[in-house]
Amino acid sequence: MKTTSPEPIFYSVPGVTLTIPVYTGNNLFNNIKSIFSFDTFSSVLVITDENVNKHWGKQIREVLGNTTTYLVIKAGEKNKNLAAVEKIWTTLSQNRFDRRSLVINIGGGMVCDIGAFAASTFMRGIPFAHVPTTLLAQADAAIGGKTGFNFNGLKNTIGTFASPLTIISDTAFLTTLPQREYNSGFAEIIKHAIIADAQLFADLGKKKLTNLKDKELDKILSQSTQIKCDIVKKDPYEKSDRKKLNFGHTVGHAVEMACKNKLLHGEAIAIGMIAEARMSFISGNISAKKFGEIENLISKAFLPNKISTIHKKLIFEKMHFDKKNVGHQIKWVFLEDIGKVKVDVVLPNEIINEGLNYILK
Ligand code: GLY
Repeated sequence: MKTTSPEPIFYSVPGVTLTIPVYTGNNLFNNIKSIFSFDTFSSVLVITDENVNKHWGKQIREVLGNTTTYLVIKAGEKNKNLAAVEKIWTTLSQNRFDRRSLVINIGGGMVCDIGAFAASTFMRGIPFAHVPTTLLAQADAAIGGKTGFNFNGLKNTIGTFASPLTIISDTAFLTTLPQREYNSGFAEIIKHAIIADAQLFADLGKKKLTNLKDKELDKILSQSTQIKCDIVKKDPYEKSDRKKLNFGHTVGHAVEMACKNKLLHGEAIAIGMIAEARMSFISGNISAKKFGEIENLISKAFLPNKISTIHKKLIFEKMHFDKKNVGHQIKWVFLEDIGKVKVDVVLPNEIINEGLNYILK
């Protein structure tokens, strides 16, 4: 007997909008209420971490007032776990937050990712906004609607796609950021230049990255934000183009996890970008000169380019859990030129090996 496949039934989701305003500039937080109106929300929870609270807690409370609920979570990647998510859910639940409540995540990538995850799952999703306070979160983590936490020793394994209502990147917060954290943020800016903007890459090479004037930093941050927004706009759910943003992250995430978070995210990504650019050089795609320029720019931002304490086998093991992989095949973001990458590339083991040998001291 001839069988026919059943016809699918379709439904659409009216009212889903992916137009998210990202504000970048100096001294924006003090005026947050004129940028983003709170009037329509039934209650507001602000999530920060210990570091942000230490430096900015008083000012945040002055600006957002005492009708807001505040939750301070433990700082650091090692605390980006289910226990922290549960703490947020408990606070929301005990304070009777409802679907018209708002969560504002004020912090680095960890606070933004975990706060957004908790909000996107509480009561099947309540609105949230990001006020990223580190360069890394302003340049990358807060933009694009990825949420999540680390699970079973693997980076961001559990998560959702959920978009903030707004992102307010105030560079004033960077004045209390430790230098190492600031440098770490530059890794993602450098990544954006490498994958999509050869001119920005060349411009960064001419600047003293650790000592930029406010205006210079604002300009670089807004160029970097534009690159990320353009990519996310085309492919919000990472089906194709957005995979480009994972350049350096296949090796970088593996290194970050293998060294048990002794490196900051941007530091691990810097090492990952060197390894992955090296693979491109070895395969004859970029010249020795361009590879050298990438290495130089990473050094100029005082980011590491090698790691001594981990075993190659462990990096391989962690790379096999990368979210871009299909089956057991590692899918690479492959550099074709500065400003141009190809996604979903499968590389021979010898090339991967040589790339990894280069970063292992
Ligand atoms: N951080 C990579 C992305 O947002 O897709």
